[in-house]
Amino acid sequence: MAGATRWGGTEDLEAQRKKEKEEKKRLKQLKQQQAEAEAAAARERKEEEESEAASRPAKKRKLSTSPSADANGSSMTEKRKLLRFQAGGWGPCRNISNFETLNQIEEGSYGWVSRAKESATGDVVALKKMKMEYAQDGFPVTALREIQLLQASKHQHIINLREVVMGDRLDDVYLVMDFIEHDLKSLCDTMSEPFLASEVKTLILQLTSALSFLHSHWILHRDLKTSNILLNNRGILKIADFGMARLTSDPPPTNLTQLVVTLWYRAPELLLGATTYDSAIDMWSLGCIFGELLSKEPLLQGKNEVDQLTKTFSLCGLPSDTSWPAFRRLPNARALKLPRDPGNAAHGIIRTKFPFLTTSGCSLLSSLLSLNPDARPSAEDVLNHAYFKEGPKPKPTALFPTFPSKAGGEKRRRASPHAPVRGEVAKGLGDKEIDFSGIFAKRDEEERGAGFTLRMG
Ligand SMILES: Nc1ncnc2c1ncn2[C@@H]1O[C@H](COP(=O)(O)OP(=O)(O)OP(=O)(O)O)[C@@H](O)[C@H]1O
Ligand SMILES: [Mg+2]
Repeated sequence: MAGATRWGGTEDLEAQRKKEKEEKKRLKQLKQQQAEAEAAAARERKEEEESEAASRPAKKRKLSTSPSADANGSSMTEKRKLLRFQAGGWGPCRNISNFETLNQIEEGSYGWVSRAKESATGDVVALKKMKMEYAQDGFPVTALREIQLLQASKHQHIINLREVVMGDRLDDVYLVMDFIEHDLKSLCDTMSEPFLASEVKTLILQLTSALSFLHSHWILHRDLKTSNILLNNRGILKIADFGMARLTSDPPPTNLTQLVVTLWYRAPELLLGATTYDSAIDMWSLGCIFGELLSKEPLLQGKNEVDQLTKTFSLCGLPSDTSWPAFRRLPNARALKLPRDPGNAAHGIIRTKFPFLTTSGCSLLSSLLSLNPDARPSAEDVLNHAYFKEGPKPKPTALFPTFPSKAGGEKRRRASPHAPVRGEVAKGLGDKEIDFSGIFAKRDEEERGAGFTLRMG
């Protein structure tokens, strides 16, 4: 018994030691496994960070040379964000039969827009039927971009894309958007008086905040004009029509489409054939819209590219090597005959054209309409401009007047050019020399901006 007890005791001890040894081994293994798992996770994290850094565009070059941009430029750069496109799941689009058409609103270059009611909810929406006739190779790239960029641009002042629905055929694609009562073009056409200064300020601030969002997310709109800017009856503005929009990078791609932006809102670098451009093209259009809201009339109504350039130079002055060092390198610059020293004869034309605009309003408008894209302010600079801080203060949206909606019952009619047709090649300025040397020669005796001669050849 005793032996058994003793031996038994030794056996117990032996068994205990063995157990402890096994436990130690198990713990060691566990530790090793943990360490391996941690190392693998760290590796994965590193790889993820590296691939994100590789896909992130380089920081944006500062666009403006204005002092306020100097102060804000770097912080603006840091604020640029990556767009997160929804990976989304696969699922069928709903059918157009869920909607009941109420009335047609407008046929544009890229689609037909109508007002409709969603049968299940009674919600009134705008339906844009995408035009597929420019599709050479499947679904048109403009339609894809419009859907993708609208989905990614959720902002109070950008039209809300609710969903995409299909008709019975594969090329029957509709965008379902919130319905907005007016566009600024129809309003300007029907109002008897232009917007008040306080209203213009509110509209420009809303528009610029959406632009700041787009540009900080690397999106160029490339077709800003009053007919693409919607306004609801509560004074809230929304940018619409992303049919020409695209993503950009820094430095900007070198082979961008030259034929973008509706003629009257097209920046001079585009008219001169630039294929590398940046968000400054949208800032030019913003300047044109600012002028149009103040006077109720489109600012630069060219009949063709040459006429557009002529009207631009008569309002903003001629380009010179000092004011716009890069302009001579643009493809169409060779076609221009300019005076040796263009001076600043145009200085003050904007002031004369807008006699009720304050000095700081004039300085904002002139800077947006700088021929040199690098001299135009960024959207962020505009938001911080003194013009919006001086009286009259921007009008609160709740106090905005309401207007009867044209889209509520009838087609919106307008007499302005459509957006350029994708795939068409820019006509350029022709191969004859365009003589601008006498453009301001007799300015003193003439009415503002008029009276120059345009000689072909
Ligand atoms: N969500 C909406 N709510 C109400 N009206 C709208 C809406 N979206 C567009 N519209 C109206 O339809 C018109 C044409 O729409 P949009 O600009 O998107 O089409 P488009 O074919 O690209 O036009 P364009 O080429 O002429 O610029 C707008 O000018 C506006 O009047
Ligand atoms: Mg449009």
